[in-house]
Amino acid sequence: MSEHTEVFIIGAGAAGLMCAITAGQRGRKVILVDHANRIGKKILMSGGGHCNFTNLSVSAANYLSTNKHFAKSALARYTPENFIELVEKHQIAYHEKEAGQLFCDGSSKQIVAMLAGECQAANVDIHTQCNIISCKKEGVIFHIESNQGDFSAESLVIATGGLSIPSLGASGFGYQLGRQFGHNLQNTRPGLVPLTLTGRAHEPLSGLAGVSLSSAETRFNKQHFRAGLLFTHRGLSGPAILQISSFWQEGKALEIDLLPELDVYAYLCQLKMQKPQSFLKSVLSEILPNRLAQTMCDLYWHNQPLGNYPDLELASIAQKLRQWSILPSGTEGYRKAEVTLGGIDTAELSSSTMESRIVSGLYFIGEVVDVTGWLGGYNFQWAWASGSAAGNDA
Ligand code: FDA
Repeated sequence: MSEHTEVFIIGAGAAGLMCAITAGQRGRKVILVDHANRIGKKILMSGGGHCNFTNLSVSAANYLSTNKHFAKSALARYTPENFIELVEKHQIAYHEKEAGQLFCDGSSKQIVAMLAGECQAANVDIHTQCNIISCKKEGVIFHIESNQGDFSAESLVIATGGLSIPSLGASGFGYQLGRQFGHNLQNTRPGLVPLTLTGRAHEPLSGLAGVSLSSAETRFNKQHFRAGLLFTHRGLSGPAILQISSFWQEGKALEIDLLPELDVYAYLCQLKMQKPQSFLKSVLSEILPNRLAQTMCDLYWHNQPLGNYPDLELASIAQKLRQWSILPSGTEGYRKAEVTLGGIDTAELSSSTMESRIVSGLYFIGEVVDVTGWLGGYNFQWAWASGSAAGNDA
């Protein structure tokens, strides 16, 4: 005998929980399962333990997807204000960190507790440590075989997330199920991920581990992000790098503006007039972290008094600092990536309900879908919005 339900959701992360709450509130009988030993593990880890749960300014332009319009409908129907209302209902204190990013004042645990409480109120039946053995559809009913028994359901929702951070329960199961049911996949790769620098050309940079800039601008193709940057033992990290990593293509160089707030050429010319005896290294140390100024000088210029440099050379020094071209060797991979780019092709999903156009009653939500947000609360907002869209339909 199998247990029958109306909505069966695989994956109790951000999207699965929101979908379960929404469907449960509509009076649907919902079972939510996860193979991990607890729900919402990524939420717990998120935002450095404070969960950057949404962003005040969200639009489809903040997402990467083969179809850049796909996310519009769900994002418009479940907005940041809707999630903020929920957070306020549960009296969770929060603050805006920068550029609209909302974080809990306290712990991410509050968000998980809030979602668990809403699930309970909506009579959602949650099973953790539930391993799915098989899923198939016969007639209009899905049959799910698991280590906790067999289930049957009218709607099956896949909310298994992406491949990033396997130690937090990530698996490729959602992609496998997608393929099984005839869905196409857009190529998957790590996103919001530190970049690595290897090879002789980058050896001098290894001494910079721990050096950070509060504002740098990273550029690739037409995309650019201004935020913090950090040199690591293996390469580059920090928000400006994580953001551009989702756009970066292997084998190609990206550009870094180390001093985006300063007219470096004007600054150097002025100092050349005022202090012609000052050496380049010490002048650069006033506008860059000491170790970075030293390394840039060692790599590219002879350290001389400023008065010795013709203006043309000062212009080229300024240009190097504002348009430093770096060729990353790769990324730190799924082990360190915050998200997975690519996934279930949106061409075969309804943008308003997330239902499959191939198999009726089958839904894909959250990160498993080929919609990936920028850094800054956008990925959770997609999880809430796509979860709500499916929960209102399933
Ligand atoms: P999610 O990964 O949350 O959930 C998927 C669930 O499916 C998991 O519980 C997993 O155990 C389960 N599962 C997988 N395979 C299964 C199987 N075979 N059987 C059963 N269950 C299975 N975003 C943001 O907006 N703000 C932030 O602050 C952060 N911070 C952050 C920090 C870190 C360290 C990471 C790794 C990621 C972030 N993110 C983020 C990204 C964000 O966490 C992510 O985009 C969402 O959690 C995606 O929600 P989903 O529900 O789609 O997947």
